[in-house]
Amino acid sequence: MTFTSRSAPVEAGRGSAGAAASAGVRAQAPVGAAVGLPDARGSSPLATVAFERTRRLRATASRRRLVRETRLSPAQLVMPLFVVPGHGRREPIGSMPGQARLSPDLVVELATRLAGLGVGGLMLFGIPGEKDPFGEGAADPEGPVPEALRRLRAADLPLALAADVCLCEYTTHGHCGIVSGDRIDNDATLPRLAGAAVAYAQAGADIVAPSAMMDGQVAAIRAGLDAAGATEIAILAYACKHASALYGPFREAADSTPSFGDRRSHQMDAANGREALREMALDAAEGADMLMVKPAITSLDVLARARERFDLPLAAYQVSGELAMLEAAAERGWIDRRRAALELLTAIARAGADVILTYLAGDVPAWLSEEDAR
Ligand code: PBG
Ligand code: ZN
Repeated sequence: MTFTSRSAPVEAGRGSAGAAASAGVRAQAPVGAAVGLPDARGSSPLATVAFERTRRLRATASRRRLVRETRLSPAQLVMPLFVVPGHGRREPIGSMPGQARLSPDLVVELATRLAGLGVGGLMLFGIPGEKDPFGEGAADPEGPVPEALRRLRAADLPLALAADVCLCEYTTHGHCGIVSGDRIDNDATLPRLAGAAVAYAQAGADIVAPSAMMDGQVAAIRAGLDAAGATEIAILAYACKHASALYGPFREAADSTPSFGDRRSHQMDAANGREALREMALDAAEGADMLMVKPAITSLDVLARARERFDLPLAAYQVSGELAMLEAAAERGWIDRRRAALELLTAIARAGADVILTYLAGDVPAWLSEEDAR
């Protein structure tokens, strides 16, 4: 192997192609040395200033792998799952190819496969048999999520079990809290969220994840858990949750589209980054053990800034619309599904996420072992 035969074919296309290629062929000895430049630098007959050869570490797959700054691991991935009541029930979700609503027994089946792949955990969302204006079902110990949690506990899988805490999947109006007139009553919602969190903790959750964006929800849930003796159950706060068009497919899956109005009175304006950090600081102060941002792809700046500011573990949720965009483009052959997925997830980790919630959690482990020599 000679230096020139390896580098010459890819030299073209960078700068002035012909000149660069011929310079590469002649450069058997470092050109820099001849003109008295430091070894680490290069020069070319065309360059009037010294330049760095950052391409050296990109020349081969093994070098790239050696110096890669961000590595994904199955252990950091959390798979969101939609749980419905019943047995042997599997309902594919149209806008989320590959995803389905599952009854608790099938949740355990899938969880067993995910655990075998080394995936880190699950995030459970419940879709109850019946909804009501107060979202009573959210705290029902016989609901689909507590049922799935008990079965998962019994299966003793090496997975962290998280349960989403919100009312919107359980209310007839699809709002995240108790509705009073045309408003959502923040303080009337808090005890309901705490009640749901306690029900999930008692059914076997390791982590509860409040997503309602009610003020004080983390403090209320912490107090509720502690009063119930669940002092060891962690809170993963959906701290910075922007009001996003990217939740559309999820709402189809959970049948939780608001019947009137929208979620802008509680979810954050997507234009706000400083406010996002304030929300995160408040949740940390209320006792959150981990802080989440979502959607992931629109929150990379928030993640990067949060990484500098907080020592708590950070999570990012690659939401349903992010999945839908990827799957739709891949289906049309417009992008390479696997490469695009890994690139997106890697960028989320690079921005500062320790934990990534992604509907692709079941696909990624195999990709990572195949891609080892990228
Ligand atoms: C419930 C909740 C939502 C998501 C997570 N928790 C929907 C919403 O706020 O409308 C979105 C997740 C996704 O889109 O994948 N509050
Ligand atoms: Zn909600």
